[in-house]
Amino acid sequence: MRNNSGYFSNQNNLLLLNPCVYIVGAGPGDPELLTIKAQKILMAADVILFADSLVPQQILQFCRQDAEIIPTANKTLEEILPLMIERVRSHQSVVRLHSGDPSLYSAIQEQMQLLAEAEIPFEVVPGISAFQVAAAKLKVELTVPGLVQTIILTRISGRTEVPTKEELSSLAAHQASLCLYLSARHIEAAQAKLLEHYPPDTPVAICYRLGWPDEKILVVSLDKLADYTHQENLTRTTLYVITPALKQGIGRSRLYHPEHTHLFRPQE
Ligand SMILES: C[S@@+](CC[C@H](N)C(=O)[O-])C[C@H]1O[C@@H](n2cnc3c(N)ncnc32)[C@H](O)[C@@H]1O
Repeated sequence: MRNNSGYFSNQNNLLLLNPCVYIVGAGPGDPELLTIKAQKILMAADVILFADSLVPQQILQFCRQDAEIIPTANKTLEEILPLMIERVRSHQSVVRLHSGDPSLYSAIQEQMQLLAEAEIPFEVVPGISAFQVAAAKLKVELTVPGLVQTIILTRISGRTEVPTKEELSSLAAHQASLCLYLSARHIEAAQAKLLEHYPPDTPVAICYRLGWPDEKILVVSLDKLADYTHQENLTRTTLYVITPALKQGIGRSRLYHPEHTHLFRPQE
């Protein structure tokens, strides 16, 4: 039986995957934060390519014993792509595992383009991004009524340049909840740009390897951000969440407020 998820199940409810590439978001590290769809696909796939620097080994516990596992941290796209194409052409199902959600900083755009050019079918399965896990661990809502209603997901320029119109200092001017990816190596520059607009006592959560066994979360004031990053020797897999919502005295959402009526709770 074919369902709308791009895979088949037979009469015994076993999954039969199409010979195609499944670009799957693995979430931040904790295997329990995989989606059910991602887990089902992992359990059935013939081949799994995974970025071993970003996706923990525990995620592979769901794979078939006889699945071919290919680590890719030391491979270029030029090496990875032919591996995927060759296996799909020999009627195998291939999972390309990415950390978090594939729509963010995963370099999938060029993969999808080259797969399409090679006429290899592919699907994208979303995952939980690091910023969502950070908010859950911090027990904070990033959109608090009357305080902040916008979330900015961004990074500072590194080897990949951020377009000038998206400069961190101009985004900081909004004083929104700002989730800063890929920036630990340039944290002094990031702190200086953020301080152009956020008050120095704005709380910042430094989130290191969320969902991994050595996870670490520190909440510090913005003016101490670089100091703590260096003190803890953080250079990789760190997400910064800068938000006024981490301050005490948050407001109440209108959505569940008794005075607020909506479609499913009309006024009596
Ligand atoms: C190449 S990007 C991948 C982002 C991923 N696609 C996502 O949606 O979370 C890697 C960056 O994401 C953030 N990141 C990913 N996983 C993380 C984790 N488990 N803990 C903290 N930050 C993480 C860090 O900023 C890291 O430098």
